Amino acid sequence: MGLAGIIAREQARFRETHAKSVAEAGALEAHWLFGAPFHWMKDWAAPAAIVAAHGEGATLTDIDGNSYDDFCLGDTPGMFGHARPEIARAVAQQAARGATFMLPTEAAADVGALLAARFGLPFWQTTLSASDANRALIRWARAVTQKPVIVVFDGCYHGMVEDCFVELRHGRTRSDAGLVGQALDITRTTRAVPFNDIGALEAALAQGDVAAVLAEPAMTNCGMILPEEHFWKRAQALAKKAGALLILDETHTLSTGPGGAAKAWGLGPDALVIGKAVAGGFPAAVWGVSAELAAAIAAVPRGSGRSGIGTTLAGNAMGIAAVGATLREIATPEAYELMLRGADELVGKLRGLIGARRLPWCVAHVGARAEIVFAPAPAKNAAEMRPALAQNQLNHALHLYLINRGVLIAPFHMMMLVCPATTSAQIDRLVAAVDSFASEYSEESAT
Ligand SMILES: Cc1ncc(COP(=O)(O)O)c(C=O)c1O
Repeated sequence: MGLAGIIAREQARFRETHAKSVAEAGALEAHWLFGAPFHWMKDWAAPAAIVAAHGEGATLTDIDGNSYDDFCLGDTPGMFGHARPEIARAVAQQAARGATFMLPTEAAADVGALLAARFGLPFWQTTLSASDANRALIRWARAVTQKPVIVVFDGCYHGMVEDCFVELRHGRTRSDAGLVGQALDITRTTRAVPFNDIGALEAALAQGDVAAVLAEPAMTNCGMILPEEHFWKRAQALAKKAGALLILDETHTLSTGPGGAAKAWGLGPDALVIGKAVAGGFPAAVWGVSAELAAAIAAVPRGSGRSGIGTTLAGNAMGIAAVGATLREIATPEAYELMLRGADELVGKLRGLIGARRLPWCVAHVGARAEIVFAPAPAKNAAEMRPALAQNQLNHALHLYLINRGVLIAPFHMMMLVCPATTSAQIDRLVAAVDSFASEYSEESAT
């Protein structure tokens, strides 16, 4: 049976075991554009959206009563586990006292101090999403430096941030084909360079017009691409020399350790963005800046007083309570120890099966995140990674196969995230499901 055959068989199996989800999908189509409250919810490999009933720790249950070992964790916001009682309590207590006042609460000073102590930057702001945080910092970077250009790495993703929707084709920055409804030419003010390419970064900075380099410490949105040794040391020095700010987006790499990858790897960014899991899954994100950048931001003339940066519910009292509970009670060193140990176990077992079955795949790994790459060796930039990502049918078939065996991994890529509650039994079930798929796939490839 070829991959198409596996997909057809698994689609039928999904329909049989997800009758309520399939029926609910019909009702969702009635009034939700794209058939779901948010169109990404339709990007899973399943033939109909899996309708969630509840989650707890590393387990999700759907309305048909199917239980899943959840390695997607909401695509990262659930990194410390679903339905954490610490978050439920903090948010409920604050909701009972009032959700949002356009005023700080007494908890806020302490939360600011926790952020500064943990991530090593002294001044912070909140937004509702990592996308908003990145957008805010891009604006401040341009305002402070009075320079127009942002440098990003080819294959990057920083959320719903138009400035970052570019890619490198034949050595030139192009608008990403996925950027719909954009009237302005982003390539005039954003330059893409290959990750791990110091020469290209130096050339991109050479014109002296760059406000900021915006990057993930390790790329996690074009497969997973790790920085080569000394890359960041040199990149940081180049940015500084060119008078460009270094903004590190730790939204995914927060899984590296309690202070994110920047802390774990000794990097010295001017600004940090942390979203998704920083409030235990509650919608809040934070961005932080150095004392020097904070002073420069404060000195930016603001005309009418409005900056045009921020949204009404940013910094709402419930979000602050959730960030506080996350930093104090759930993103603890002990939690990270469990996550990192579990991820090491997962990676070791996946590599074992890839070796045993002689699959042309490898596993990339940063902190509690791991990713199967459909290529024999890790990529060092997006151009190298793209052929592996282009194996759409294989990707689709494996995702669907895992869903039918009670395992969820990120729908958009092969990302698997280990949370503190993830058990060895769950890891074994994931590895066994991949192994079972690989045995069918290898037989098919051999014929
Ligand atoms: C690195 C990175 N930054 C920012 C974002 C945007 O996060 P959000 O969609 O919560 O705004 C994402 C989303 O996947 C991301 O991967």
